[in-house]
Amino acid sequence: MVRTIIKDTPNKIGEVVTLNGWVHSRRDHGKIIFLDLRDRSGLVQVVGDQILDPLKPESVVEITGLVKARPEKLINPHLTTGSIEIEAQSATLISPAKDLPLPIDSDGYDIDESVRLKYRYLDLRRPRLQNNLRLRSQLANLIRQHLIKQDFVEIETPILTKTTPEGARDFLVPSRLQPGNFYALPQSPQQYKQLLMVAGMERYFQFARCFRDEDPRHDRAYGEFTQLDIELSFVTQEDILQLTEELFTTTIQQLFPHKHISKSPWPRLSHAQAVKEYGSDKPDLRQDKNNPDELSFAWVLDFPLFTQQSDSDFYHGSGSAKFAPSHHMFTAPHPEDIKLLDSDPQKVRGLQHDLVLNGYEVGGGSIRIHQPEIQQKIFQLIGFTPQQQAQFEHLLTAFTYGVPPHGGIAPGLDRLLMAILGEPSLRETIAFPASGSGLTAVVNAPSPATTEQLEELHLAITQPKKK
Ligand code: AMO
Repeated sequence: MVRTIIKDTPNKIGEVVTLNGWVHSRRDHGKIIFLDLRDRSGLVQVVGDQILDPLKPESVVEITGLVKARPEKLINPHLTTGSIEIEAQSATLISPAKDLPLPIDSDGYDIDESVRLKYRYLDLRRPRLQNNLRLRSQLANLIRQHLIKQDFVEIETPILTKTTPEGARDFLVPSRLQPGNFYALPQSPQQYKQLLMVAGMERYFQFARCFRDEDPRHDRAYGEFTQLDIELSFVTQEDILQLTEELFTTTIQQLFPHKHISKSPWPRLSHAQAVKEYGSDKPDLRQDKNNPDELSFAWVLDFPLFTQQSDSDFYHGSGSAKFAPSHHMFTAPHPEDIKLLDSDPQKVRGLQHDLVLNGYEVGGGSIRIHQPEIQQKIFQLIGFTPQQQAQFEHLLTAFTYGVPPHGGIAPGLDRLLMAILGEPSLRETIAFPASGSGLTAVVNAPSPATTEQLEELHLAITQPKKK
């Protein structure tokens, strides 16, 4: 028999339907058994006799039965199918479930994270996470439609690539065909998107997986996360701010009509002003921080192009350099400040824009340097050795073949959704996040390589493995 989806059952009163799904809950009333059956579309009450007895909670089942209107006083207004119930005629246990190792009928916040991630496929049965993943998909879909309507092209860029420094450590992948050489996983598609501008694509976007080996925090994923990566040619910073503002205002209004954006247009603060007035470069400007439906976006602009170099800026220079880029090394200096690059680099403002939402930095971007001589100057100021500069030769060469002025932004999808939903961690918006100690959910990577794999890659483990 053709399967009926649970949400469609109220339209089928008087018909016999076949439903597939999971036993959500079960109540035994003497000879009568009540089940709530769950599928991707919702819950419905099933009533029957002993034929329902073998069906235990969380088992996968097929039930055929008659859709009956409930008497007025038994209607459940909290259930979309609350006006009907299914009178079971036959029931099949397709796949039994053992007792679950974690409860899934709560919000789950207080359950040990290691248990939640080990059994993430069960944790994800939780309605809150089901909803978060659906919202994530819908948000991505709305963003994609919006950008494509505005003439953007969605383009994938390589994952096996060369270092793109964004301030974190790289993940390296050994090459079998080029023994002794390594790919780096991209910290972002920054260089590729700039090269796509040289290629004449003009308007690019991608839901880009980014890989950064840095210590996790509640708002920072370990290992990998997703950016909505955007780049445009022939743009001003103003164009990028407006495009972003319109993109998120429209999509949020469509998907979260009960949320309200506190101020429109979004407030703009200089970096100095944000730090002075709010003590933070990502201020939380909500009027009522207890209101879960208030979204307070703001732009932070006019960052200094450089910060004082510290030991943690490991990817930079020779140790003698005093400066590290505040954002990344491709951010253009403010045109009025270019003259200060030689005399007073610390006073140079960058054409960087950070997008802030409810106290989180949910996006970052800039107008890029497109003049090879300025790019080289920045490399010198951040103390790049000739060998380090050589790593970026391809970009400087590309810029000698006609490069449009360009710029972009990359909102973090996980972090943006976390802030919109008011979730306490971005792991609540990711299907299979890594744990705080860098172990992947369910499959428990990283794991040792076999001797054959190591030999093939010409690798040897020289240190005893840490426990
Ligand atoms: P940036 O490094 O500022 O810029 O990153 C942009 C946005 O990505 C998100 N993000 C993260 N989200 C989760 N976990 C992480 N570990 C993490 N790191 C960053 C944040 C952040 O605002 N290539 C530039 C963008 C550009 O210049 O266009 C870049 O990657 O929301």
